[in-house]
Order: sequence, then C-alpha cells, then structure tokens
Amino acid sequence: MADRFLLAAVMGWPISQSRSPMLHNFWFAQYGLRGTYVPLAIAPDRLEAALRALPALNFSGCNLTIPLKQKAMAIVDEVDVTAQKIGATSCVVVKEDGRLVGFNNDWYGFVHNVLEFAPDWRADAGPAVVIGAGGGARAVIYGLLARGAREVRLCNRTVERAQALADEFGAAVRVVPWDDRHDVLDGAAMLVNTTSQGMVGQPPLDLLLDRLPITALVNDIVYIPRETPLLVVARERGNRTVTGLGMLLHQGVPAWKAWFGIEPQVTAALRAAIEATL
Ligand SMILES: NC(=O)c1ccc[n+]([C@@H]2O[C@H](COP(=O)([O-])OP(=O)(O)OC[C@H]3O[C@@H](n4cnc5c(N)ncnc54)[C@H](OP(=O)(O)O)[C@@H]3O)[C@@H](O)[C@H]2O)c1
Repeated sequence: MADRFLLAAVMGWPISQSRSPMLHNFWFAQYGLRGTYVPLAIAPDRLEAALRALPALNFSGCNLTIPLKQKAMAIVDEVDVTAQKIGATSCVVVKEDGRLVGFNNDWYGFVHNVLEFAPDWRADAGPAVVIGAGGGARAVIYGLLARGAREVRLCNRTVERAQALADEFGAAVRVVPWDDRHDVLDGAAMLVNTTSQGMVGQPPLDLLLDRLPITALVNDIVYIPRETPLLVVARERGNRTVTGLGMLLHQGVPAWKAWFGIEPQVTAALRAAIEATL
C-alpha cells in the first residue's frame, strides 16, 4: 500500500453540501497517507457507469448519498445482509478482483454516535420513539433493534411508509398515527428525529415534548445546524441530547477499515474541524 495513492469518493446528486470529503481528508492528513477523497456529482442515470469505473481508476470504494443509495443496490455485484435489511447501500467496496460489494454503515454511525455521547445507553432500557420513515429511519431502526430494543414506536407523516417499514422489521416496531406523535412520547426512554424537519431551510419539527420523560435521551440525525431546534428545546427542559454530526463521522470508520485496512478515530479535533463549517 506504501506506493499506492489511496482514493475514495462520495457520489450524490447534488453533492456540494457533503461534509464527507472534509471528514475523510482529515483522516488522510492525520495518518500521513498519500491519498484523497473526492465529491462526485453523479446523476442517477449515470450511476452504473460511475460505479463500474471505480476499479479501473484504482478507487478503493465510495460512499453514496441522496438519491443514489437505493439505486446502487441493483448495480453492485453483491449486497451484504445488513444493507439488504436496511434497504440501502451507503458504502461500496472495490474487491481485488474488481467486484463491487455494497454495505450500509449508517446504522453503525447512529449507534456509535449515541454511545459516544451516552456511554451508558442501552437500547433495551425502554420504548424508543422514531419520528420519520425515510432512509435515515431505516438505519436508525436497524441499529436500535441490533442493540436489543424491544419496542420502537414509529411515527411518520405518511403512515403507509411507516407501515411498510414496520412490516419489514417485525413486531418490535409499532406504527403510531402522525396526529398522536405528541402523546406517544409518554414513557419513552429515547426519541430520535429522522425527518428533514429542523434542517437548515426547513421549519422545526412540529413536536411537543411535554409528555417526554426528563430521563429520555433525545437524538436528532439532522446535523445542519449543529444543534436543531428540537435538541435546543430538549436540552433546555433537561433531557440529555445527542447531535447528529457524529452519525456521519462514525459511519466513516468501518468504511476506512474496508477500503484501507485502517480503523480511524473520531476525535474531538475532527469533530471541531467539521462543526466549524456547519
Ligand atoms: N447524521 C447522518 O449521518 C444522517 C444520515 C442520514 C440522514 N440524515 C439526515 O436525516 C434527514 C432525513 O434524511 P433521509 O435520507 O431519511 O430522507 P428521506 O428518505 O427523504 O425521508 C425524509 C423523512 O422526512 C419526513 N418529512 C419530510 N418533510 C416533512 C414534513 N414537512 N413534516 C413531517 N415529516 C416530513 C418524510 O416524511 P414522509 O414519508 O411523509 O414524506 C420522511 O419520513 C436529512 O436531514 C438528512 O440529512 C443524517
């Protein structure tokens, strides 16, 4: 590996907002490696050509972001079981023989971000409420169940989408109508926002926290802004909160291990460097 210039990328459409290049290039610098990680704007209809070009260009792999995570599953040569279960591929690894294997590391990022903020966190401590049923929710629910959650209350504006997800993940996931989202917080041990509400340019999530126990952990996977309006309200009323950026940072760890054989660290310096741009 010493003579090789290491290459990886993130593909998305659009891609300029992605903080992934900053994350991975921080690690290249930290470990003194010759390599780079580039943002690639790839329209969905060019995804197959772009992925198939990776081996010839000597890329070790790439990450995928909106709107390419689902489409890639039909293109790669193999999809690992976790990505199949989540229903999306967030990371592609180029094997030595040029085959492309799809993984999903978002659930890992979610779990390890929560554990970084709350090392004593236990997913089986009580009911978890998940708001939203998109791609992020899939990874979060997979992570919760993988860590032993016994009850996930799932609430999404479009109830059919929540139901489809509950059908896939089994009896531990219970769908709650959107109108009941405030009341469903009663007795919860954890609340996770996976909707785009609260993101820069979007209104805050319309959710009253009055029924949420003060002992509940509150996580928002939205990370721009660094602290969403939901997290501000939760923190000010006394809940422990977990910001969303670390989910992005931690999902990079297994990607690096698969691409370059190195397990990088999520340090305070890395977090500060990226937070400074949010
Ligand atoms: N920290 C990380 O590493 C990380 C990872 C993944 C995603 N994210 C963030 O999570 C957010 C969602 O991403 P995604 O990939 O899951 O998106 P997605 O698949 O498009 O899902 C969007 C979700 O937001 C809901 N939503 C949209 N507008 C809404 C509104 N006005 N009121 C209520 N709900 C609304 C949708 O509900 P409907 O089904 O009713 O449309 C759906 O549940 C984004 O901000 C993304 O940046 C962060």
